[in-house]
Amino acid sequence: MATIIDGKAVSLAIKDQLKKDIAEYKTSTGKDISLAVVLIGDDPASKVYVNNKATACEYVGITSYTYRLPQETTQEQAEDLVSSLVNDEKITGILVQLPFPKHLDENKILKLIPANKDVDGFSDENIGKLLQGKKTVVSCTPFGVMELLKHYNYDLTGKNAVVIGRSNIVGKPMTALLINANATVTVCHSKTKNLAEIARTADVLIVAIGRPKFVTEDMVKDGAVVIDVGINRVDGKLVGDVDFDTVSKKASMITPVPGGVGPMTIAMLMKNTFIAGTER
Ligand code: GUN
Repeated sequence: MATIIDGKAVSLAIKDQLKKDIAEYKTSTGKDISLAVVLIGDDPASKVYVNNKATACEYVGITSYTYRLPQETTQEQAEDLVSSLVNDEKITGILVQLPFPKHLDENKILKLIPANKDVDGFSDENIGKLLQGKKTVVSCTPFGVMELLKHYNYDLTGKNAVVIGRSNIVGKPMTALLINANATVTVCHSKTKNLAEIARTADVLIVAIGRPKFVTEDMVKDGAVVIDVGINRVDGKLVGDVDFDTVSKKASMITPVPGGVGPMTIAMLMKNTFIAGTER
């Protein structure tokens, strides 16, 4: 039976450390750290995530401002709000919650956020720095995965890492972080042939494909570390992209859903907001 990676405990430890660091920063500089979160539309999961972000901000001592815009918001209204936040001196970090309603041009809105207020690591400049191995703000979920591995003293050097999923938010930045940590990385996606065979070569298997219980025990090598980024709602229950019950019998370490990667994403957002706020 695998060690169950406790993302809740690790995220709490990170938030507790941040709470101290932020209090110290505020006392020594007299400056505030703040996060503006923009939610457009009615996506139920996004509503929950945005509320959780405000709660985490309060916990660590970041001032949060939440802007909730209706589903029918126009491109111009969305751009006007984001532009006003960019120009607002009291706002040190900006996050626009994805996905947007379909009629909006996501890239045009994201492009308005300058690198120094980009707490998601989505800006061209921050992605460029990540690829070059320079210090920067990194997309919260893959950043959280790296912190989990670090916390459990897992050395990636020379390991075969397989990432399933190639999204801009998870798969691509995850790949860069793993390369920077000296792993040998293979990326699989929906067009990959012999995906199961490749997955079986993984010492570390990171799954972010958004399909419930996609990874089954036959796709996992004995003793592999399995990181499940998926959050899927099936019959009112949250399940990951990995079939936990069978895969946990083969893996050496595995993240549960919920309570694995999920809580880490918010902790890393708090960390990114602190970095963006202090390195102005
Ligand atoms: N929606 C799902 N994950 C994320 C994320 O990391 N950042 C933003 N802005 N939206 C998301």
